[in-house]
Amino acid sequence: MEIPLSKMHIDEQTQEAVLAVLTSGRYINGQNLRAFEEEFADFCGTKYAVGVSSGTSAILLSLMALGIGKEDEVIVPSHTFIATATPAKFMGATIVYADIDPETYTIDPSEVREKISARTKAVIPVHLYGHPCDMDSLNELAKAHNFYIIEDACQAHGAIYKGKRTGSLGDIACFSFYPSKNMTVLGDGGMVTTNDEELAKKVRMLRDHGRTQKYIHELLGLNCRLSEIHAVIGREQFRHLVKWNQRRREIATRYNTLLDNSGVTVPVEKSWAEHVYYMYVIRTSQRDGLASYLKERGIETGIHYPVPLHQQPCIRANVNLPITEKYVDEILSLPMYPQLGDEEVQYVASAVRNFMENIKCQE
Ligand SMILES: Cc1ncc(COP(=O)(O)O)c(C=O)c1O
Repeated sequence: MEIPLSKMHIDEQTQEAVLAVLTSGRYINGQNLRAFEEEFADFCGTKYAVGVSSGTSAILLSLMALGIGKEDEVIVPSHTFIATATPAKFMGATIVYADIDPETYTIDPSEVREKISARTKAVIPVHLYGHPCDMDSLNELAKAHNFYIIEDACQAHGAIYKGKRTGSLGDIACFSFYPSKNMTVLGDGGMVTTNDEELAKKVRMLRDHGRTQKYIHELLGLNCRLSEIHAVIGREQFRHLVKWNQRRREIATRYNTLLDNSGVTVPVEKSWAEHVYYMYVIRTSQRDGLASYLKERGIETGIHYPVPLHQQPCIRANVNLPITEKYVDEILSLPMYPQLGDEEVQYVASAVRNFMENIKCQE
């Protein structure tokens, strides 16, 4: 059996929708973008959604719209994809790293509290692997210390925190539609969501050269637009998101049962959370051996992420983050995508169990 880590869905309807855009003659800022934005905002429970060229540009434009710059500090988890933090560096801000909660892998609010200074202007909690962050604790801190919350929801389309969807839980939120995500535009794309009219207006301008009308540029902007082709693909994918997330959750439950008492640590879902399992991540001190064993059996795995951000050459910082540093050597992402069959889940879980049993016998 060959089982990839993730898989994309492309159907005939998507191909037809793309063809219709190709022949329409309208490729930028058209009706598909507008419709996609409306549908996505409605889903997240926000007043506004603004389509952009990637999750990275969503974060960059959010920081720009909030006016974050040189004098400011932005607190981020170190255990995340690099694009959570690099946009803050581009804005000239200082990146401050916080450790993660040992159960959920998401930013630990008590760590954030310790890292707050008079210069803290924003915190970027990441709903990592699809599990929402402890948002009440973070929002409380934001209120008390007067900083913004920028949700990095790039891995959490449709995840729920206390009855509310990610994207609606802070001041502004950022999504990615990169191919492996829970929904994709089969290329690069992203979305910014917010309830703040002024912020939405700014992001809308900033993604399009800061213009207010043709050849009048009020803000220093960029070209970070989402094309009509990508928007129409996003709309097609979006129709399946809830069903796909449901299947991801079923697969996770199945893995959890099959891996019970196997010796690996399985993901936790907090009582206040609805996890959408962008990644299904286990932990074991035997990670590298297990990954090789699975590879030999046709099972692809991943490490999200092997080098924490505070150790990355371009944004290195001298800081001690014990949980992050321990976990990077233990985490392993198993195959997870809605089309994964029960038999395949069984095959992967049995291989994990076999490996762990062999290890036990050798000890
Ligand atoms: C947590 C996180 N933040 C930011 C990004 C950046 O998104 P993109 O690749 O669309 O620029 C990603 C996706 O890759 C991500 O997983």
